Amino acid sequence: MMSTDFSRDALARCVAGALAPNMALFQLFSSAPSAEAARCALEQAIAASQGEGRARLLDAQSLWRDTPAAFELIKALDEHYFAQIARADHGDHIARIAAAYDAIAALSPSGSVASYSLGREDLLEKATAEVVDHLRAEGLAHEGCEAIEIGCGIGRFLVALSPLLSSITGVDVSTKMLEHARERCARLVNVELVQGDGRGLRPLADRRYDLALAIDSFPHIVEAGDEAVLSNLFDIHRVLRPQGRFLIFNYSYRGDDALDRRELLRLAERTGFDVRRCGDRPFRLWDGTVFDLAKAERPPLP
Ligand SMILES: C[S@@+](CC[C@H](N)C(=O)[O-])C[C@H]1O[C@@H](n2cnc3c(N)ncnc32)[C@H](O)[C@@H]1O
Repeated sequence: MMSTDFSRDALARCVAGALAPNMALFQLFSSAPSAEAARCALEQAIAASQGEGRARLLDAQSLWRDTPAAFELIKALDEHYFAQIARADHGDHIARIAAAYDAIAALSPSGSVASYSLGREDLLEKATAEVVDHLRAEGLAHEGCEAIEIGCGIGRFLVALSPLLSSITGVDVSTKMLEHARERCARLVNVELVQGDGRGLRPLADRRYDLALAIDSFPHIVEAGDEAVLSNLFDIHRVLRPQGRFLIFNYSYRGDDALDRRELLRLAERTGFDVRRCGDRPFRLWDGTVFDLAKAERPPLP
């Protein structure tokens, strides 16, 4: 019998209700050596489960049936992304990240920003709406608010948030992602797009924003190293108004929540933020963690 060890964690978490069917499929595909192995693992897990857990796996199975190219897409995104990251001739890590996103933007715009959408615009829209609802419920997305998204990708959050806010600026290091964002936001007069250098937000003005967002982009800053993390945090602090909020959705991809929380608490102290929320997972369709920082009265430490 084919070994299905690679799938144990994702499928067990789906059965337990800790991972939505789309997330479980994405994780299963990422770890499976072939589509056949993934199919076999899913069938075995369905046969071994019952009740609501089994129903969730059956949902995953029908999602795959309705999205027949999903396995190949996840593998292609991984392959193109890591081929660019491995290229030494691109320069430093930030330049390689920009090249990697340039490469995968062409494969699937929705898959490039959220692999767990399996390349489906409808799933991406639902997952986007969950995050926007969270921001509204927290009183953070409202008329009068000026916001910035660091690592805006194809601009799905700029589109979803622009009707709720006075303005929103999208910053990204990838030229191709910004091209997609420009197309999506072409008719939105309160959206501005800026190509960043990945280290900070110059030339944006001091104390211009009430809200800063980093949605699945901070892990790349963490990968780029301590200097990039600190320079970005100091600069986000600089562009926020007093009491402005900075929400990080996923701090890193290291897979160690306790380490992320410890590190974020230490960095917030150093860069002049109070931590209001520290790494819980409030969403259904996405397992992203939420860190909510407020610009403190005290200045950053030198
Ligand atoms: C996974 S995508 C998420 C895009 C968008 N936030 C979303 O959720 O749809 C990550 C984005 O962050 C951008 N990015 C990575 N490192 C960055 C940095 N240091 N500064 C600005 N953008 C960055 C990438 O180019 C990419 O567009």
